[in-house]
Amino acid sequence: MTPLSLPIPLAWYYAGSASEFSARPTEVSLPGRNVVIYRGQSGSLHAVQSHCPHMNSPLSKAQVRGDGLKCSLHHWVYNNQGVCSGIPGAKSHEIPSFACLEKYSIVERHGHVFVHTAPVTQQQLPLFADEDPSDYACARVRLLSGQNHWSVATANAFDLAHFEYIHQRRPTATPRMNATQPDARGVRLHYEIHGKALADRLLVRRYGHQAQLDYTVWHGNLIFAVTRVGEFVNRMMVFVHPTATGFDAKLFVFTPKTHSPWKKLSREISAYFSYQFFARECLELEGVAIDPARLGPKDQLLAQYVAWLMQRSIKDATQSPAQWADRPGESIKTPSPLLSQYPSHDADG
Ligand code: FES
Ligand SMILES: [Fe+2]
Repeated sequence: MTPLSLPIPLAWYYAGSASEFSARPTEVSLPGRNVVIYRGQSGSLHAVQSHCPHMNSPLSKAQVRGDGLKCSLHHWVYNNQGVCSGIPGAKSHEIPSFACLEKYSIVERHGHVFVHTAPVTQQQLPLFADEDPSDYACARVRLLSGQNHWSVATANAFDLAHFEYIHQRRPTATPRMNATQPDARGVRLHYEIHGKALADRLLVRRYGHQAQLDYTVWHGNLIFAVTRVGEFVNRMMVFVHPTATGFDAKLFVFTPKTHSPWKKLSREISAYFSYQFFARECLELEGVAIDPARLGPKDQLLAQYVAWLMQRSIKDATQSPAQWADRPGESIKTPSPLLSQYPSHDADG
């Protein structure tokens, strides 16, 4: 068997809680890249390369100047665009062209911070399309990990055959791949729930057997899963971070903003059950590997997903920053029925 081997996606990753970042620059290790995050004097967050292009001094030791940084070692100053604007004792025309920091797209949303690891700014972080998405808040973030290749985790919902045997969910229609966005692949599944686990029994008793899952993966590592069972809706977002031994996953569950303590509690309960579901999935996936040459007659959807993953990873590896900036799929100008983006806002308020 030749398991799938792919480079780490240049993609959105979870950097941490917004409260972790201040005017003190902080180095964050993301898959494939370390960045330094700081809050400028305007209040906005910035993500830049982790070390100074002059003599590699860690920029986590730098001082914030306006919305830029002053390196601690020789006091070169970088402005809010990452461009060196001053070297002590030197004239502006003497500033070398290499004196420039790589900047990364950074988004602060729902009290959390997300960074895109492609070396260009202005990438947009996708999210769910709901009636009015800015009305949503998220539960406490849950963290999981798995020991197999990261792509196995994101490919899971395209592996239709396992739904019945692992999740006791019987498909009632043949799904098709949603390929309307170049940097995302999605699928809508209709199924009946037959599980005997507590969460399934509670769901079925209250809302019935019929369910629908809208599952979308952006960039190969960012999952949006919206499950509908009758009136019940569960909105889950999962960042899958490749690691040396497998993957880490950061799981968010959203419900509408509310002042009701009961609804806030039910959001946390939904997040708890989602976490349990995902944790069981991670155990089931232990040792699982995907070899594109060994997929079977019921694996067409999975084969399509894997083909897209391989093709986009080649594109990531070969594109220059300028080409990245031009990628139409990144700007999400025409949201599909399943996807949209929404503006920054805090938790319930
Ligand atoms: S190493 Fe940063 S200014 Fe010299
Ligand atoms: Fe699964």
